[in-house]
Formats: sequence, C-alpha cells, structure tokens
Amino acid sequence: MMSQRSRPDHWTVKARKMGYPARSVFKLQEIQEKWSPMTRGEPVLDVGAAPGSWTLYALKTLGRGARVTAVDLKPLNISPPETGELRFRQGDVFTQEAAEFLAEGGPYGCVLSDAAPATSGNRLVDSRKSYDLVMRVIDLAQEHLAIGGNLVVKIFQGGDEQEVRERIKGLFAESKTFKPKAVRSESMETYIIGRHFTGSAGTG
Ligand SMILES: C[S@@+](CC[C@H](N)C(=O)[O-])C[C@H]1O[C@@H](n2cnc3c(N)ncnc32)[C@H](O)[C@@H]1O
Repeated sequence: MMSQRSRPDHWTVKARKMGYPARSVFKLQEIQEKWSPMTRGEPVLDVGAAPGSWTLYALKTLGRGARVTAVDLKPLNISPPETGELRFRQGDVFTQEAAEFLAEGGPYGCVLSDAAPATSGNRLVDSRKSYDLVMRVIDLAQEHLAIGGNLVVKIFQGGDEQEVRERIKGLFAESKTFKPKAVRSESMETYIIGRHFTGSAGTG
C-alpha cells in the first residue's frame, strides 16, 4: 500500500500532465509570477536541476533564444524545447570541473538553486550540508551573476538561515523570503530571492 507521502498528490499529477517530471515546477512558476527573477534574453543557471522541472520551465518561459545551463549529481529527465539552448553537466557543484562548465555559460541574468543534499537523518550533519550547499550557490552567484541579476535559492529553516539571509542582503539591492503554496505544509523549505545583484563583496 502506498504511504501518504509516496502517493502522487494533486501538484505531482498536474505537473506530469503538463509534461514536467516534478511538482517543484509550481514553486518556480509562483516565484517567477511574483518576482520575475528570469528575464528574456538573459542566460539562466540552474543548480541542482534534476529531474529538470525548473530547467524546462525556464526554457519555456524564456522562449526563443533561451539559454539555460544546468548541473546536478543526477541526470535530467526532460525533453527540452528546440527554441532554446540547454547546457547540462552531470556532476557535483563543489568540483572544479563543474565550476568551469558553469563559468562558460555566464555571466547569468539569473541563478536558480533548488538544490538539496541527500539527508542522513542526523539533523546536525544535514543542516551543515545544506548550509554548505547554499553558501556554494551564493559563491557561484557572486562570481557569475551579471550586475543587476537575480538569485533564487532554497534554504531549510531551522539551520543558519539568518546568516544566509544577511549574506544575500549584502549582495542584492532587495531580498525576500518566500514560501510558495506548492511547498508541502510540513516542509521546512523556503526560498530566498535576491533582486538586483550589486556586485558588492558581501561576507563571502
Ligand atoms: C529537489 S531536487 C531539484 C528539483 C529540480 N529543481 C526540478 O524542478 O526538477 C534537488 C537536487 O539537488 C541535487 N544536488 C544536491 N547536491 C548537489 C551537488 N553537490 N551538486 C549538484 N547537485 C546537487 C540533487 O541531486 C537533486 O537532484
């Protein structure tokens, strides 16, 4: 018998019907409709992109001429539209190889990260891994965002989120914390949106 958690919910079923492999597409859709982090004509970096709903949504939203660079430990499971260019590398975002690949696709108008580390069950270990991953994404954003660009990054509440918020605040003209409706009510995840990268050194 399927558990409550493994049964496809309303969002998952809807996503699949629309050709997206994961329900997470609705989180980005809501963020895009509210804050417009992605702009037509500007390349997007998607960190932790598999199975590929955000990447596919970015390609479709940006339409003809869209350029999306994506990286994940796992492969993508999407059929990208022919109207845009998708560069994908399967690998770890902490490696030099991934860093070089990402650098080649920039500078970016938007950096997205829905990345989440595999959990061990040990709260301390997991929140450290999650913090390191978020900080890595902010390092990459700092290095590869064009001035004026935007950042969307997933964080888990209950860890060092205040430090993450402060760092983003120092790098962007505006920052917001936002929990889309499609986030499961019991989930600790939320998103920070940094708007208009100023290029300041911040604390990184
Ligand atoms: C919630 S999923 C992303 C879902 C995706 N946004 C979508 O819409 O299909 C989180 C992803 O982060 C990836 N990830 C975690 N740590 C990573 C790392 N160090 N380097 C690259 N990807 C990583 C995982 O492999 C996983 O696929």
